Amino acid sequence: MKAFLFDLDGVIVDTAHFHYQAWRRLANEKLGFDISEEFNENLKGISRTESLERILAHGNSTLDEATKAAYATLKNEWYVELINKMTPDDILPGVKVFLEKTRQGGIKIGLGSVSKNAKPILEKIGIVEDFDVIIDGTKISKGKPDPEVFLKGAQELQIAPHDCAVFEDAVAGIEAGKRAGMKTVGIGQAEVLKEADIVFPNLVDVEIFELLQALF
Ligand code: BG6
Ligand code: MG
Repeated sequence: MKAFLFDLDGVIVDTAHFHYQAWRRLANEKLGFDISEEFNENLKGISRTESLERILAHGNSTLDEATKAAYATLKNEWYVELINKMTPDDILPGVKVFLEKTRQGGIKIGLGSVSKNAKPILEKIGIVEDFDVIIDGTKISKGKPDPEVFLKGAQELQIAPHDCAVFEDAVAGIEAGKRAGMKTVGIGQAEVLKEADIVFPNLVDVEIFELLQALF
């Protein structure tokens, strides 16, 4: 028996862009500098608090702990405003069909996201039921690239890590999958996701049988 563990932001839905918009607004309005889309690659898969630390370091800024907590909350409020408008139409191309093919192939399906907003997003886009297990930011203590989120997913599914494949759009997520001893499928650009075992631009037309042959 095998399992596929999916990242959420940037793999199932395009919320990676909403995270960027909300952090950029915080940097612009509260910190007095800008962050580029290129810099944003370093924030993908990284927890909320660690993301703020990286942004502050990037802008050579420091803040006291209370202000950091307030700004992380503010960023999340802006982010939640953006995700509240989501509907099933926001599921990325190819995802629904790929999940169906995975299920038909007898492969278990897990979610492995660092986000504390993962569950409400899955509910908004109507695919909670498609997952056998959901590991999100409320169930873990360490963000990616730590392997905790994926190891917990494998454990709950009772599948050995070497029989799991991780689907990720983030460099930190690919590293987390590798550190968990799992196969890694990059979703995005091969130049960015260099360490992944295989990379696709998206899940459109990805065939399960061929993928399994290539990975295992
Ligand atoms: C990850 C995103 O999925 O979740 C990161 O890639 C984000 O960009 C992290 O910081 C935490 O999300 P949230 O919703 O708990 O702030
Ligand atoms: Mg992601």
